[in-house]
Amino acid sequence: MTDRPRLSAWRFLAWTAVVGLQALAVSIGLLLCVAFVVTLPLLPRVLRFGRGLAAGERDRVGRFLATPIPPPPATEDPTWRDLRWLVLQTTVGGLAGSVPIGSVAGVLQNVVVAAVWPLFPGSTSTLNIPVESWGGAALAVVTAAGYGLLGVLAVPPLARWYANLSADRLGPRKKTLVARLAEVTATRAAALEAHGTELRRIERSLHDGTQNRLVAVVMQLGMVERVLSRDPSAALPMVRGAQDAATDALAELRRVVRDIYPPVLADRGLSGAVASLVAHCPIPCTLDERPLPRAPAAVEAAAYFVVAEALTNAVKHSGADQITVSLRDEDGAIVVEVTDNGRGGADEAHGTGLLGIHHRVAAFDGTTSIDSPPGGPTVMRVDIPAGP
Ligand SMILES: Nc1ncnc2c1ncn2[C@@H]1O[C@H](COP(=O)(O)OP(=O)(O)OP(=O)(O)O)[C@@H](O)[C@H]1O
Ligand SMILES: [Mg+2]
Repeated sequence: MTDRPRLSAWRFLAWTAVVGLQALAVSIGLLLCVAFVVTLPLLPRVLRFGRGLAAGERDRVGRFLATPIPPPPATEDPTWRDLRWLVLQTTVGGLAGSVPIGSVAGVLQNVVVAAVWPLFPGSTSTLNIPVESWGGAALAVVTAAGYGLLGVLAVPPLARWYANLSADRLGPRKKTLVARLAEVTATRAAALEAHGTELRRIERSLHDGTQNRLVAVVMQLGMVERVLSRDPSAALPMVRGAQDAATDALAELRRVVRDIYPPVLADRGLSGAVASLVAHCPIPCTLDERPLPRAPAAVEAAAYFVVAEALTNAVKHSGADQITVSLRDEDGAIVVEVTDNGRGGADEAHGTGLLGIHHRVAAFDGTTSIDSPPGGPTVMRVDIPAGP
């Protein structure tokens, strides 16, 4: 953004009027869509157009103010915020944008009238006074100067004022420090909780799996040591047993490592890793995937584990015969949505899996929603901000 030329106040404000007209068209379109049942299906398209307009303005206003304007995060309901911007742009934006255009038009009309009155006597200036003499022409020139002066004085501060107002609507909400602090404290608590759960899980896996098997190896090797001096041939099966136990311990260790950070994520990225989960799901499962932003490894791992847990739950509890996994980017957040057509009734109070997801996602300032009425379907949606 910084390497692109800054916009002048005149160009910025004049184009604001054009965007105001586009916003007006979108507003009318939205009203028409909700007014009639037949046009209702067009609503998402018009909304998408409106959101595209807002995204373009974020870029343009950012260029004018020389400060990038990030989109609001998923937690702030960006669609609703864009709609509020649309109202502002249609009304205040349209009016503000008409000032530079009116100023230039006023100068031009009065100057032209003053210049051509001998040819077309009686042409009216913007003051609605017919110009029929040099005196009248002089008045028109003074009026033109007035329009010019008005523009020169009003346009720069007006452009700055409107750009700031617009940036306020287009960007993330400015939270009060207290609200933000409460949020950070809650997130930190969730991060610690998720971390604690993770540590306990790894400790359990190492204790119950790897450690037990290594104890068996040590015991068998001790027996080998004792038997070896008396009857070397009897030692052989024990050595084989120790070798098997060591192989098991190694496999178990690999599994634990895989659960900490699945290698498939490093190899194939989030999309590839999720595609592999979907491909191995025993229930027919489709993946609807759009291009994703790059995200820190921890965020990708969280998104991956969300899909893994949701698929495991659907297989274990739902009785579904169709699952859909959707993976997309919405305003810089990774959105994971897993839907199954099973019996519903998912409840995070009845297990550790869903609660774990909740904590894991909250640690990244993300949100989790589970909609699972009795009789189904179950929709689990998770939004995780991908940026820092
Ligand atoms: N997709 C689903 N369809 C129907 N019921 C579900 C679904 N997902 C979860 N549930 C219900 O919600 C409960 C909680 O799920 P959760 O994942 O937290 O625990 P769990 O799967 O039972 O155990 P684990 O701690 O191993 O994940 C489950 O016991 C199940 O009754
Ligand atoms: Mg579960």
